[in-house]
Amino acid sequence: MSLINPNQRVSRGTQEDHHGSSNNNITSTPSSHPSSPRTNPNSKKKWSNLLPLFLILVFVSEIAFLGRLDLIKKADFVNSWTESFYQFTTSPLVSSSNFLEISDEIPVVGSGGDGETCEEWLEREDHVVYSRDFQKDPILVFGGEQRPCDVGCKFLPLHKRKQAEAAIGLRHIGGTFGVLRSMESASYYPDNDVAKARRKGYDVIMTTSLSSDVPVGYFSWAEYDIMAPLRPKTEKALAAAYISNCGAINSRLQALEKLEKFNVKIDSYGACHHNRDETVDKLEALKHYKFSLAFENSIEEDYVTEKYFQSLVAGSVPVVYGAPNIQDFAPSPGSILHIKELNDVGSVAKTMKRLAENNTAYNEFLRWKHDGPSDSFKALVDMAAVHSDCRLCIFLATKIHEKEEKGLGFPKRPCKCSRGSESVHHLYVRERGRFRMESIFLRSGNLTMVAMEAAVLSKFKSVKHETVWRKERPEKIRGEKRELKVYRIYPVGMTQRQALYTFTFKGISLRSHIESNPCAKFEVIFV
Ligand SMILES: *[C@@H]1O[C@H](CO)[C@@H](O)[C@H](O)[C@H]1NC(C)=O
Ligand SMILES: *[C@@H]1O[C@H](CO)[C@@H](O)[C@H](O)[C@H]1NC(C)=O
Repeated sequence: MSLINPNQRVSRGTQEDHHGSSNNNITSTPSSHPSSPRTNPNSKKKWSNLLPLFLILVFVSEIAFLGRLDLIKKADFVNSWTESFYQFTTSPLVSSSNFLEISDEIPVVGSGGDGETCEEWLEREDHVVYSRDFQKDPILVFGGEQRPCDVGCKFLPLHKRKQAEAAIGLRHIGGTFGVLRSMESASYYPDNDVAKARRKGYDVIMTTSLSSDVPVGYFSWAEYDIMAPLRPKTEKALAAAYISNCGAINSRLQALEKLEKFNVKIDSYGACHHNRDETVDKLEALKHYKFSLAFENSIEEDYVTEKYFQSLVAGSVPVVYGAPNIQDFAPSPGSILHIKELNDVGSVAKTMKRLAENNTAYNEFLRWKHDGPSDSFKALVDMAAVHSDCRLCIFLATKIHEKEEKGLGFPKRPCKCSRGSESVHHLYVRERGRFRMESIFLRSGNLTMVAMEAAVLSKFKSVKHETVWRKERPEKIRGEKRELKVYRIYPVGMTQRQALYTFTFKGISLRSHIESNPCAKFEVIFV
């Protein structure tokens, strides 16, 4: 096995040698990871006596390493990933500080009381330089557009496609990851279903589903002036409709007909049930209706298109027939109407008519235009402040780092520092949409979300962090400069569906997560 310096760039194979067979020309240098000058000398000596055992352990763990590759959750993705052209070779020469860490049972001893805190010791001992510097050596992607990103990323033109590490629109081929990117619903394009797309050979899925690897939504602050002011509701008809694909596979036309049957007057500008001629500007027209029919062509989780977001811009209360989880997309509780199934049409029609008669009750639905949307809505739309091409690069770079961390050539890190009965855990946190991680430290006596939030706020304030969405959000809902409010903290690798809606650390689960994931990495969403 060849040796590599973990601080040195691993030479990358070409498409043809992605199985690593011709990757053996890697510079052979022993690990230069500095040994810890503060490591307890007695324990060092004691463990040095176990050198033969250590060598056996290295041998065994190299075998384990081969097996470990299969143990990772997203088997499809990771398997293809590990077969690819980054073959991190492993080094049996481990510095003495690593030597101490070869077994989990060996207690890690922090500073010996000469004034250095556990935190300082950990910052130094856990400091890692990855073999690849993405700024100098960007991730090569085919199919996207060059734009600013927190991680080095280069989008290749067609004639350079073969050099790509990931290709949008292509299935996995050779050493290139296949990326499926589509904003169409899986009802119309079944291959867009996340599980199906994986089976079809796509490594990274980018769809409207918040459960996809890198979601691509229709929403963004930049595209929709969501906080645009309200206009007087001058139209006689209760609602406006713009439906032009009259043959949609769901029953949205039936829903529209049923509403009319319940005496809801609808101005229909689209091709279906056309009864009103197109005005100059759809959005301008919408502003003068109390309600707007946001009827999607598919009933699918997270499939929420411009119809809906335009209603929000217009300040015309959306009446939604579409995503079953549309309330996740509501600007505040009680701000939209939802026809879950055709049988609901009667009660929704009744509500529309009641609201049309009662301005107080109607205005409640639009209160968010004055008071600002909920944190939950901000957290959702803020996701799009970072373009999906960049989020793809961050996703890929994260996988590349994770793979390197699993290689044996990667320096072992203490990740915690024990003093007496207390330990300090070293954790990493980055803002969603950013690649760079910050260090935080939690005491073993206080492994709680409250302590974690406090540590995150204190760290990000100390580095004068500016949120990734700050320039994107409308000014009136931007908050004070440098103001930080934690909305969610979750382990890196979760989907946005989990991160935004379903995941929480309950009871002791944060503790067990941190204990079983040394140097655990988290993402924070600020609102
Ligand atoms: C109008 O709505 C408000 C708020 O929901 C309610 O308090 C009030 O009683 C309603 N007025 C009538 C006349 O129904
Ligand atoms: C745990 O951390 C929180 C937040 O920093 C702090 O308010 C609390 O006092 C700590 N509790 C203990 C037992 O240290």
